[in-house]
Amino acid sequence: MTKKIEIKVSLEVFSKNEWLSEDAHLIEKAKSILENAHAPYSNFLVGAALLLENGEVFVANNQENVSFPVGICAERAVLSYAMGNFPNDRPVKIAIVAKRRVNNQLATVTPCGLCRQTINEYEVKFNHPIEILMLNPQEEILKASGIDQLLPFRFNDLNS
Ligand code: THU
Repeated sequence: MTKKIEIKVSLEVFSKNEWLSEDAHLIEKAKSILENAHAPYSNFLVGAALLLENGEVFVANNQENVSFPVGICAERAVLSYAMGNFPNDRPVKIAIVAKRRVNNQLATVTPCGLCRQTINEYEVKFNHPIEILMLNPQEEILKASGIDQLLPFRFNDLNS
């Protein structure tokens, strides 16, 4: 090996007393919508809340299917709805919260690969990063400043 490509990534961690009120609001919205998840197979309930530049907040949750790959994650559900209805309003930040039904406890969730690539799509569309807020069971917000922090070697070839 003569050359190495390295990308350093990081998440900021905010304890509850450090939360911005806008972030707290978004986390609350994600938390409340996870209860409506259709997750009879995994019993893993996920809620996502998306803030658009126009101030509107949209929410969605995971919707599973007996044919497992048919199910959709909360993040892609909310992005598809919001971007389908408000294609000109830039997404600013997305909050994601998860809970296990078995113990009713929060679980740490970071977006899956498909959802990361989907977030990337709208960053590229609006030429602006989207903040990603993830709640952990200690009720800290893990904040990625953009999808580059979660998917550093993402696919963007057709956009260049
Ligand atoms: N899930 C999401 O909705 N978002 C994520 O970021 C991770 C996983 C869903 C998919 C499936 O319904 C369940 O959580 C368990 O994987």
